[in-house]
Amino acid sequence: MSDHTTHKLWGGRFSTPTAAALEALNRSIGTDYRLWPFDINLSQTWAVALWGAGVLTLEESKKIERGLALVGQKLAAGAQSLPSDEDVHTLIDRMLHDEIGDVASKLHTGRSRNDQVATATRLWSMDVCTKLDVAVRALQQVMFDHAATLGDVLMPAYTHLQRAQPVSAAHWMLSHFWPLERDRARIVSASRAAAVLPLGSGAIAGCAFPISRVLLQGSLGFSSVSQNSIDAVGDRDFVAELLFTVAMTATHLSRLAEDLIIYGSSEFGFVQFGDAFTTGSSMMPQKRNPDALELARGSGARAIGDLTTLLTTLKGLPSGYNKDLQDDKRVLFDAVDTILLVLPAVAGALQEIRFNNRRMRAALSSSMMATDLADYLVEKGATFREAHTAIGSLIRESEREDCELDALPITSFKAAHSLFGDDVFDWLEPARSVARRDVPGGTGPNAVNAQLRSAKEALRPVADAARGNELVLRAV
Ligand code: ARG
Repeated sequence: MSDHTTHKLWGGRFSTPTAAALEALNRSIGTDYRLWPFDINLSQTWAVALWGAGVLTLEESKKIERGLALVGQKLAAGAQSLPSDEDVHTLIDRMLHDEIGDVASKLHTGRSRNDQVATATRLWSMDVCTKLDVAVRALQQVMFDHAATLGDVLMPAYTHLQRAQPVSAAHWMLSHFWPLERDRARIVSASRAAAVLPLGSGAIAGCAFPISRVLLQGSLGFSSVSQNSIDAVGDRDFVAELLFTVAMTATHLSRLAEDLIIYGSSEFGFVQFGDAFTTGSSMMPQKRNPDALELARGSGARAIGDLTTLLTTLKGLPSGYNKDLQDDKRVLFDAVDTILLVLPAVAGALQEIRFNNRRMRAALSSSMMATDLADYLVEKGATFREAHTAIGSLIRESEREDCELDALPITSFKAAHSLFGDDVFDWLEPARSVARRDVPGGTGPNAVNAQLRSAKEALRPVADAARGNELVLRAV
């Protein structure tokens, strides 16, 4: 029921006005305004369903549908909310009354803002999953392009941030591609989780009019209908799943950013940042700061905080809708908005990075081929344990002499193990070490080429996007 002075949807049973302090706290229009296209869409469909249920005449249903379309046009043209609009649903209801008069009052029959907001938030989530997929894929494309042009360039790979073994630089680049590929699978899954229709659940017990939920499902593009109205109005698992997906992506971006920031330091010098995505210092003229990457790393903390906020909200709630749930959208929008800012910035920063092949090659010391030397002895018949001990003594000797393994004389090798022959120095070549690791998933040239082919395949746009199935049953 509409209160005509403030257009409240619920004023009837109250004799004194709501306290200003509660109105200020309760108002969510500042956050949920953006749901308007989805609220208009679901309300138009609801009008059709009410006609189907015999609640509205065809005339009334069409009038409401057209009225909502006009409201949508005004909102698209920038119509603003009034301070008295509690939330986006109230705003649209008020504007619909302004547009078509009293027949608008029939639209809210059989539904509640509880099933309405859950439906609108799900539609928003399904829609944004498509945008997230595009943004993640764009970053993957940049990674792929770098990997494809790096060719046979080599660099050190690190464990514990200590030089470990030589790898192809393309292999390192693609090590950041596959986490994003998993994120894209999670985006599809989050979209599917959102694609369950709550509309028709009413406030908590279901709709008392015989509306067709299958019609609602099909016309709104949901892939199924919720099974339980109590669950449907209080379920925000889909928000949690999307927030986890975003937090995981943000974590991956943060790790990439951290690699690049380290590799861009003068001490490493593996990469050089470009102009468009770095900033200078107000004090130190020589500085070039990788702000885009640092902001990406920093914003990951917020995404994780958003997920934690939602889970903490959910864990204490009794079943059904509770007003605490109004804040689900704050964290959802914050996390998604942030990642949609961060993804293109990281893609841009990565795109303009130049690799310094010479510096990467120079960081490959022969001691990093210690494992290859052990393999050499194994191939000549030693056990791996025995070989490991022999190489350990050579490493100790090189540390004593303050030199790399390849600076030790052949006599040292032969003293360490009798199976060492004159060909040992060939085995200290990084390219040879890399070439030997050609198992699928390894850093050898054939393996990396196969990996590039798989990556290219993964980047192919798929017809089945991250949305539910759209039957498009709109009747009017
Ligand atoms: N603005 C509310 C939200 O976002 C809409 C639902 C309000 N429901 C209610 N029973 N007051 O959750």
